[in-house]
Amino acid sequence: MTGLPVRCLQLRHTYRMHGEALVALDGIDLELEAGTSNAISGPSGSGKSTLVNLLAGLQRPSSGHVFIGEHELSAMTPTALLRIRAERVATAVQNPSRNLLPFGDPIDNIRFAQRGPRSYRRRVDLPDPAGLLGELGLGDLAGVAVDRLSGGERQRVALAVAMANHPAVLIADEPTSQLDSANRDRVADILRLITTRFGTTVVAVTHDPQVAEALDRTIRLRDGRIVEDSAA
Ligand SMILES: Nc1ncnc2c1ncn2[C@@H]1O[C@H](COP(=O)(O)OP(=O)(O)O)[C@@H](O)[C@H]1O
Ligand SMILES: [Mg+2]
Repeated sequence: MTGLPVRCLQLRHTYRMHGEALVALDGIDLELEAGTSNAISGPSGSGKSTLVNLLAGLQRPSSGHVFIGEHELSAMTPTALLRIRAERVATAVQNPSRNLLPFGDPIDNIRFAQRGPRSYRRRVDLPDPAGLLGELGLGDLAGVAVDRLSGGERQRVALAVAMANHPAVLIADEPTSQLDSANRDRVADILRLITTRFGTTVVAVTHDPQVAEALDRTIRLRDGRIVEDSAA
C-alpha cells in the first residue's frame, strides 16, 4: 500500500455553455511524486475542481492524458475506470456530509466504503475500520452517529472513509472550506499524516494559505493554467 505518482500531459478541458466553448483547463503538464501532499490553489473559476476531477477519473478530458502510476485514466474503458476508482483512487468532496451516510457511525461508513473493492476481488486486504480510525486519531468518534458529529469531525471522518481501501491517491476538493481555523488545522494534519503513515499521494484543493503551507507542494492555477509551483 504505497502511493502512486500522478501525471498529466497537455491536459485541456472545455465546457460547452449555450453553444459557446469555455476553456477551463488550457494545457496542464504536471507530475506529482508518489507519497507527497500537494495543494492546488487559485482563484474561484481557475479550474481547480476540473483538474482534480480529471485526476480522479470523475470526468474525461477534452484532450491530453492523465496517468495514475502506469494507468492512463484518460484512455480507460468505463469498467476499468470503475475498478481503479474502487481500488486505487479515493475522493472527498467539499461538503463533508455528502461523503458520509448520516445514519451510520464512522465504522459503518468505512465498512460501506470497503464494499467497492470487495465486489471486484473476493479476498482483499482491507484495513480494520476501528484500527484505521485510531491511526488517524479519530478513535473516540468510532461509535458516534455521523449526524451527531460537528462539521470538523465529519470532514476528518470523511478523510478516514476515503482511506478505507488504502488508496494510492487521495483527492480532496476544498476539504477545509467550511471549517473554523482549529478544525482546518486538524484536517491539514490528517492530510499530512495520510502521506507519512500510508504513503498515499494526496492532492487537495484549497483556498487557505495555511493549509497549502502545511503540505509539501503548492500548485497555483489561474485561467486554467499553472502560474506558480513551489517545487519549480
Ligand atoms: N459543468 C460545467 N459546465 C460549464 N462550465 C463549467 C462547469 N464546471 C465548471 N465550469 C466553468 O469552468 C471554469 C473552471 O471551473 P472550476 O474547475 O469549477 O474552477 P474552480 O474549482 O477553480 O472554481 C469556470 O469558468 C466554471 O464556470
Ligand atoms: Mg472548485
